[in-house]
Amino acid sequence: MWRNLMKKQWMILACAAVLLAGLQARWCVAAGHPAKEDKGPAILLVTFGTSVDSAQSAFRTVEQRVKAAFPKTEVRWAYTSKIIRKKLEKEGTHIDSPEVALARLMDDGYTKVAVQSLHMIPGAEFHELYDNARLFGQMSGGIDKVVVSSPLLVSDETMDKALKEVMARVVPKARQANEAVVLMGHGTHHPSDAIYSALMYKAQKMDPNVYVGTVEGSPSFDEIKEMLVQKNIKKAYLIPFMTVAGDHAMNDMAGDEPDSWKSQLTKAGIESVPVMKGLAEFDAIADMWVAQLKTAMAHLQ
Ligand code: CO
Repeated sequence: MWRNLMKKQWMILACAAVLLAGLQARWCVAAGHPAKEDKGPAILLVTFGTSVDSAQSAFRTVEQRVKAAFPKTEVRWAYTSKIIRKKLEKEGTHIDSPEVALARLMDDGYTKVAVQSLHMIPGAEFHELYDNARLFGQMSGGIDKVVVSSPLLVSDETMDKALKEVMARVVPKARQANEAVVLMGHGTHHPSDAIYSALMYKAQKMDPNVYVGTVEGSPSFDEIKEMLVQKNIKKAYLIPFMTVAGDHAMNDMAGDEPDSWKSQLTKAGIESVPVMKGLAEFDAIADMWVAQLKTAMAHLQ
């Protein structure tokens, strides 16, 4: 009996020793493991996305400008629009959501990530991106730091600069002072919709015949049309105030359907000339996003 107990105790001790040794071995492995491979910072460019082929050139411009500014940095893309991603997937092109793209960067060993929003305003999509991207910086064993950089229109200066560039580069040279320029913003239910009204106030201080309408927010197109009619405008240049000249530009703005902006203006006796260019196609505007990205990259250090 006594001998048996001794034997049992000895066995327990032996087991504990083996266990401890094993644990210690694991600790040693953990301690002796080389620090996780640090691939340095990466850039994630995030846009709503587009399924329109011709609009893709806007993204190429942005990528070229970003790569010129950060030649040694990994640059990846993500689209916030699930609908667009699904549509592209069916056509054989896979684009990650921002969350999947961040998880992939984490998995691939990037420890610092600058996320550049290529949206126009800090609306619902930007805030979702901001909330989710920051969580990746809080996970253990992954990305140490995530900085989410602002969309295009976030301040007095960025609004002025964007308008100036549009007036100088996007509006056709043939436009006369008595002809209107109608910028088409997206518009949103988010409070940041107010940016479009602020933009029109600023635009009209620069040039009284510049208007800002939106597809889904305020000012509405009906309001703008009313203003053009009241002012006896005879000709208007329609310009998408969006990252790309995608579906909204092709259909809502310049389409042949009776409810497009072009058709409605024509019906009101106003000749309309659509300009099918997205803002990101212009180097000077793409560089505004790049400038914001530079600030974000500096914060990663
Ligand atoms: Co839309």
